[in-house]
Amino acid sequence: MAETAVIHGAGGLPGVSDLPPAPVALETPYGPAAPVRRRAGAQGGILGLARHGEAPGLAPHAINYRANLWLLKELGAQRVLAVYTVGAIDGELPLGSLALPEQIVDYTWGRPQAFSDSALGHFDFTHPFDQELRMALAVEAERLGMGLALGGIYGCTQGPRLETAAEIDRMERDGCTLVGMTAMPEAALARELGLPLAGICVPVNAAAGRGAGAGGINLAALERRRDAGLSAAGRLIAAFCGLERG
Ligand code: HPA
Repeated sequence: MAETAVIHGAGGLPGVSDLPPAPVALETPYGPAAPVRRRAGAQGGILGLARHGEAPGLAPHAINYRANLWLLKELGAQRVLAVYTVGAIDGELPLGSLALPEQIVDYTWGRPQAFSDSALGHFDFTHPFDQELRMALAVEAERLGMGLALGGIYGCTQGPRLETAAEIDRMERDGCTLVGMTAMPEAALARELGLPLAGICVPVNAAAGRGAGAGGINLAALERRRDAGLSAAGRLIAAFCGLERG
């Protein structure tokens, strides 16, 4: 069965970030990757990686996405579940729930986007998230009776600051329904390595200028919602990978 890499953010992920670190060399041709955790399972094991590294961790623009993906592939990952906390541009999305986006608009700049500098290095990215993996996750969520939004467009911003209200207006005009800072170049690098990747988004705040937070984003409330959403994401991933959570 497939070895599944689970990449998560600074808020950790129940069932993954609490595993002991795996004793593997973190150096790659692209520099050092973030520490990896590992757990064997009946349907293949999981390789856990906190993309920002150890606390306090690297800001989204400073993460070594190439090293992280390269190491996971080297260690035998065959597919990637990438957990992202995001802001909700679509006001219908319940905060603290889960969403499996199908598209990306990339607003980042200056992040190394590829492993190869070759002129022949093009690859298809029409559907940035792996459709089969998304559908399989949706089926598992339904089996667990977990509410989940299937679809949406993830707009990836540079950070580390949050967006202005006008930037969110522009992103909404572009069709974005979710906003986060880390799906790119992560998803593109996974594709370049031939690793199917699905993004599991946890909307933790109404995006700038939206909803109850129209006057500004309350970061303390955001962290409270993050815990509930990440716990749901951890449950979904554990069930999907056939792991009993202790
Ligand atoms: N914007 C960008 N990234 C985020 C947000 C947001 O509002 N919330 C969580 N990650």
